[in-house]
Amino acid sequence: MRSASKKAHLIALIATLLVGAASVEKRMRKPPHIPAETMKALGERMNGHGLAMMGLSLAVVLLEYDGVQKMAEGIVTEPKLKRPATSDPLRSLPPRFFELQDELSVRAQALADAAKKKNDAEIGAAYARMIEACVACHSAYLAPAKPQ
Ligand code: HEC
Repeated sequence: MRSASKKAHLIALIATLLVGAASVEKRMRKPPHIPAETMKALGERMNGHGLAMMGLSLAVVLLEYDGVQKMAEGIVTEPKLKRPATSDPLRSLPPRFFELQDELSVRAQALADAAKKKNDAEIGAAYARMIEACVACHSAYLAPAKPQ
């Protein structure tokens, strides 16, 4: 890459990251069908996801293998919400929520493995598949439960 275009590329990247950083402050909107006690039980569990995601996206695009592996493994080992018993406030979360929590771990592990092997193409693909699990869970969470 010529140095002028490299510089432009870098500036574009930094601008994108700054816009991203500003929006990281964002919280998820509150789905009206989820009761307050469930929100409380979820508590701060999802806090930090935004910042972790920024760090991981950067490490992925810059192919920092160790960073990708460590952060992806961090997602695999982070504490999980237990599938709730009948009386638990987390009952109002859809079953899909808990499936996707497991799915995220599996996909984050695949990303960690790709980084360990330093397989660039696989890192990109595994990252995309992992993000799909993030989006799918947010979608399951925000959408009102469908009648059975
Ligand atoms: C098992 C379901 C689930 C998965 C998987 C999941 N999230 Fe979330 N996420 C949530 C929920 C629920 C909230 C809202 C929490 C709240 O409002 O207290 C949330 C909130 C967030 C927020 C906003 C910060 C906040 O506290 O509201 C960000 C950013 C975020 N998630 C990023 C991610 C990323 C990145 C991934 C994938 C690496 C991911 N999430 C995977 C359920 C999930």
